[in-house]
Formats: sequence, structure tokens, C-alpha cells
Amino acid sequence: MIKEIGKILTLLKEYKKPTIISMATLSIQVILEVLLPYIIALIIDRGVMESNITAIVQYGLLMLLCTVLSLLIGIYSKRQSSLAATGFAKNIRKEVFYNIQNFSFNNIDKYSSSSLITRLTTDVTNIQNSYMMILMIIVRSPLSLIMALFLTFTISPRLSVVYLVASLFLGVILYFLLSHAIPTFNKTFEQYDKLNASIQENINNIRDVKAYVQESKEIEKFSFASYSLYRMFKKAESIVVINSPVMQFTMYGAIIAISFLGANYIVDGSMAIGELSSVLSYTTNIMMSLMMFSMIFVLLSISIASIKRVNAIIDEIPTLTNPDKPITAIKDGSISFENVNFSYFGNLDNLSLKNINLDIQSGQTIGIIGGTGSSKSTLVQLVSRLYDVTSGSLKVGGVDVKDYDIKSLRDNVAVVLQKNVLFTGTIADNIRWGKPDASIEEIEEVCRIAQAEEFISRMPDGYQSKIERGGVNVSGGQKQRLTIARALIKNPKILILDDSTSAVDTATDHLIQEGFKNRIKETTKIIIAQRISSVQNADKIIVMDDGQIESMGTHAQLLEISPIYQDVYNTQIKGGIEDEK
Ligand SMILES: Nc1ncnc2c1ncn2[C@@H]1O[C@H](COP(=O)(O)OP(=O)(O)OP(=O)(O)O)[C@@H](O)[C@H]1O
Ligand SMILES: [Mg+2]
Repeated sequence: MIKEIGKILTLLKEYKKPTIISMATLSIQVILEVLLPYIIALIIDRGVMESNITAIVQYGLLMLLCTVLSLLIGIYSKRQSSLAATGFAKNIRKEVFYNIQNFSFNNIDKYSSSSLITRLTTDVTNIQNSYMMILMIIVRSPLSLIMALFLTFTISPRLSVVYLVASLFLGVILYFLLSHAIPTFNKTFEQYDKLNASIQENINNIRDVKAYVQESKEIEKFSFASYSLYRMFKKAESIVVINSPVMQFTMYGAIIAISFLGANYIVDGSMAIGELSSVLSYTTNIMMSLMMFSMIFVLLSISIASIKRVNAIIDEIPTLTNPDKPITAIKDGSISFENVNFSYFGNLDNLSLKNINLDIQSGQTIGIIGGTGSSKSTLVQLVSRLYDVTSGSLKVGGVDVKDYDIKSLRDNVAVVLQKNVLFTGTIADNIRWGKPDASIEEIEEVCRIAQAEEFISRMPDGYQSKIERGGVNVSGGQKQRLTIARALIKNPKILILDDSTSAVDTATDHLIQEGFKNRIKETTKIIIAQRISSVQNADKIIVMDDGQIESMGTHAQLLEISPIYQDVYNTQIKGGIEDEK
């Protein structure tokens, strides 16, 4: 626990200074505050009791001075602690976000996006609030406790025994309460996490929920999670609420005892009235300090879960890194797989690709066909190093992909992922993603090749039309064509389309293939498709089956040798003929 806290505190950086200033100024404020009852005692004993107006005025002015000073210093101190806490949160958020940007696909697989979002938002806010509270308590309560005890002791050593007894009593009760409340709080936060994840999953996929009429089931799931959370919070809080009556009981007990003993001392002349009044004021001070101090443990236990979750992201080591002397120039678009095995889990017993040997020459068009889950996507993701091969070697332009600078490699190997997305912004913005300084002519050119020009020109604002969040205002096929254009604008040496024309009609698909053949001759094109018509003109077609290459060759060759290819061909042709009937 201490290690985790220490680690997160290193992110304070430039906010160490406001932290220290806020603690120092707070100390001054506390000292001034604690002095007040002491001055009141002087006013009563030296002024009121002795009818000395000058003393009353003098001590009164001193009190006023202390109050005003304490107010001003208090405001300043609070500002510094807010600055420290918000700055600390900013640093944590930045560190987490930067680290996520360096994540490889492998790292990303480990966390769900909803959990990453919770860590960046709720968890960081949690830490920020706790830090702010702790900054206040950690100085105020021990200092005010010690000062009050010290002053009581100088005024009346006999009465301070009452405090000792009361503090011990309260300390034991608080310890007992906290040791019960903290584990319950911890469990509550775990449950909170689960609820968060389930809400995010539901909201992100609300369209699917509606399409499958799963609302009532989702509501039931939510109600259950929400109700268990309610029960756990209630349990934790019901332990914590005992705190307040116990503390009041002890405080009033102490006040009664002090009043009783103090009155006796005053009667026998061993104590002044003002002294008793200040000792009584310190009672609240001491008890409150103890209470507040115990809050630190509750705050820590609430934020430790958040700290751990944030630290996990900061500690996650990106599994893909640049080599020491990265190569930035990529000679050509040739690709060669040599005995490549790949597992998502890095273990050779659980392979998603087995013994892949494949040579692709620069400028060739390669088709990939195969059933669902046959590892087509897995195969192409290795080329731009979205994942690293588990064993064997993979070369692009004659050089091992691990020797390239990752950015140069990915600029030259453009992949249109199967789950492609568009971002909020205009169509032109989205396409410029591939090349920030692309001119409008370049954008128009790639949109022509990707057959996107026609529908863009029909939109009221053309290339300046807005794409809504997640690309909801364009159709599936339009989205696919825009993502193809976005890849083309990089002018890559290798272009990979992972099922990127599945939602495009056959005629348009054909036009896109023609465009590739005529306009980007030099580029190596790898096209994963479900439709034979999308790949049948390729120089080479690879048939994938269960993580292995079942066979490869041209369309005509595969019709002779590959049973899988024949099957797919027959079903698609038959389907086609029946459609035409
Ligand atoms: N991120 C991942 N983590 C673990 N396993 C994965 C991951 N992605 C895919 N797999 C597994 O690897 C295998 C191959 O998946 P892949 O996505 O490459 O298939 P595919 O041929 O592209 O299928 P489809 O035609 O449905 O797109 C599947 O068994 C899948 O469960
Ligand atoms: Mg796939």
C-alpha cells in the first residue's frame, strides 16, 4: 500500500511546491486558531474579573488580529491545496493517457475500453478529492490536537487527565469501527466497478440492445447490480454513522467531567474562570481532531483501489518498442513470412497462426479467403507490427519488421482494419488523418479511387460535411470507402484491406479493384474478402484454414486444387445464378 502511494506521489512533480506551501500556511492558521480560546481566557481573567478595560481592549484587538490573519492565511492555504490537488490530477491523467497511446494491440487486449475510461475519469477524480482532503487533515488535526493538549496541560495538568481518558476511549472505538468499515468499503468499490462496466457496455451498444429487444433483460441486470451496490454502501455507511454519536457522547461526557471538576477547582480557588472556559473550548478541538484524523484511513481506503488501478496502467510496459537503431527507409513493398507462428498469448501451445511461409513481391495483388476465425485478420496485422510474431521471421522490403522505426513502417503499410472507425470532424479531416498536410486535390484523387467521390459530392457540404461521433451519419458502405481513401492518402508501399468492401455493392467493389490496378500499380495490395469476385483477379490468392495456409495460387489454379475454394466458389456462383432466376 505504501509503495503504491509512493509511486503515485512521484507524479506530483511541479505541484510539490504548492503542496508544501499549503501545509506550511495551514500550520500557521491552526496555531492562530488554537490561540483564540487562550486569549479569551486572558480577557476573562485579566480583564473582566479585574474590571480592567485596557486589558479587555488590548486582548480584544489581539483576538481580532489573529482572526483576520487566520482568515487570510486560510484562504491562501486553501487555494494552494486546490492548486496542488487539481495539478496532481492533471499530471496523473496525462501520464495515463500518454501511456495508453504507447500501448500495443496486445496491451490493449488486456483492458476493456470502459475500464480505461473509468481509470482516466472516476479514479483520477477520486484520487484528486482524497488528496485535497488529506492535505487539509494531515496537518490540521495532529497539530491542533497537540497544541490543544499542550495548552490544556499548561493551564491545568489535572484536567488534561480527562482528555487522556476520553481520547483513549474514542481511539479504541474508532479503531474498531474502521477495521470493520474499510473492508466493506473496498468491496463496495469493486461492485461499483462492475456496475460501471455493465453500464458502459450497455450504452456503447445500445443499438444492438434495441435490435435484439434486450431492454428488459438489461434493466434487470442493471437493477440487480445497482441494488447490491445500494446494500453494500448502506452497510458501510451504517458502520461509519456510529462514529458521530460515539464522538458526541465522548465529547459531552468530557465536558460534564471537566465542568464538574473545574467548578470544584474554581470554588477551592485553584483555578480561574477564564481558564476553565478555554479548557472547555479545547474539548471540541481535541475530539474533532481525533475524528478527522480517523477520516484519513477511510479516505485512503477509498482511494487506494483507484491508485492501484491507475498505477497498473502507468506500469504496463508497451510490448512493442522501437529498435535501438531504427531503419526509416522502406525499400519496396515486398513481404516475406518465414516459418511464422503466432499466438495472442505469446505461448506456442495456443497458436492462431501455424507455420506460415509466404513470399509476396512488390506491386502484387494478393487475395485472402477463408472461413470466419481462420486467422485472416491475424495474418495481416503482423505486417504493420500491430502484433509481433511469436516465432519465425517477417520481412518487409527485405528487412525484418522489428528493425524498422514503427512510425515509418506504419506509414508505409496502410491497414484498413476490419472494425474501421471514423472520428468526429469533417470528411476532409478524417481523410487527412492519413496525411495531415494533404491538399484538397490529393483528397479528391483518393476519394475517386475509393469510389467515395460520388456520394460525397451529393452531400450538401461536400468534403466539409460533418461526420458525427462514431460515423453514425454515413452508411456502412460509405464508411468503408472513406476509410479506404484515408489509407490511400498515405501513398503506402503496402495497402491492406481487411474485409473493407464487404458492405459495398459488387459493381462498386469492382470499380475500386480497377482503380487499384490502374492508379496504384507500384503498391502491394492485400485484400481480405468474403466474396470471390473481390479477389479473383489477384496475382495470388491465399486460402486460410484454421490458422494455416490451406493452399495458394491463382483463381484458376485454386479451382483445381483447393476443396475449400471450390466450395466457396460453388456456393457463391450457385447463389448468384439462383438470384438471377
Ligand atoms: N485480440 C485477440 N485476442 C485473442 N484472440 C484473438 C484476438 N483476435 C482474434 N483472436 C482469435 O484468433 C483467431 C483468428 O481470428 P481472426 O480475427 O484472425 O479471424 P478472421 O479470419 O479474420 O475471421 P473473420 O472472417 O471473422 O474476420 C480466432 O480464433 C479468434 O478468436
Ligand atoms: Mg477478420
